[in-house]
Amino acid sequence: MELRSGNIVLRPLRLTDAKRLAELANNEKISCNLRDGFPHPYTEEDAENFLQKFTNQNPVTFFGIDYNDEYVGNISLVPGQDVYRKSAEIGYFIGEPYWNKGIVTTAVNLITAYGFNHLDIIRIHTGVFEYNEASMHVLEKCGFKKEGVFRKSVFKQNKIWDEVRYAKINPEFENLQV
Ligand SMILES: CC(C)(COP(=O)(O)OP(=O)(O)OC[C@H]1O[C@@H](n2cnc3c(N)ncnc32)[C@H](O)[C@@H]1OP(=O)(O)O)[C@@H](O)C(=O)NCCC(=O)NCCS
Repeated sequence: MELRSGNIVLRPLRLTDAKRLAELANNEKISCNLRDGFPHPYTEEDAENFLQKFTNQNPVTFFGIDYNDEYVGNISLVPGQDVYRKSAEIGYFIGEPYWNKGIVTTAVNLITAYGFNHLDIIRIHTGVFEYNEASMHVLEKCGFKKEGVFRKSVFKQNKIWDEVRYAKINPEFENLQV
């Protein structure tokens, strides 16, 4: 299972990604944008624990991002439960040396198309902390719409922040009348 666009490939995570994952993820400029489940500092043991959960998935929903054949980050879709089972939350990060090269914009487009076309997902959504302009810009470039602001919903770095909510609807269902 592999999703490709030029020199950017989304592929299943491997246990052998642990060392590089820990190196890339151990960065406060990354963890400050993510939930506390993404630890800081980020150790090789954290990476191994994470990878053990998300290798050998069927269907694959957590991918490693390769750029020029080098592992640079992760991207995932987490489907909801119960009445939300046709919605999925998107999440992503790449290592700082690879920022602003268009990599995550391409990765978001690849995984969004995969979710709509192969996972029977109708809506893909996420929340972005108010200070994460780069991530909001990525989502807007990928056709996600800002749906609202969850005011003062996030407690991160000992401060309270707004979360900006974005979603994209599977075009097949965009104009569906029930
Ligand atoms: C946010 C993140 C995923 C972006 O990945 P990326 O591969 O660098 O993104 P891209 O290069 O595809 O696009 C970034 C865009 O944001 C813009 N940008 C970067 N920093 C910015 C800033 N401070 N303010 C406004 N725009 C900014 C870039 O110029 C680029 O836009 P452009 O293509 O129009 O020039 C990456 O920085 C990251 O992993 N950050 C830490 C984890 C994280 O924030 N995850 C998302 C949580 S919601």
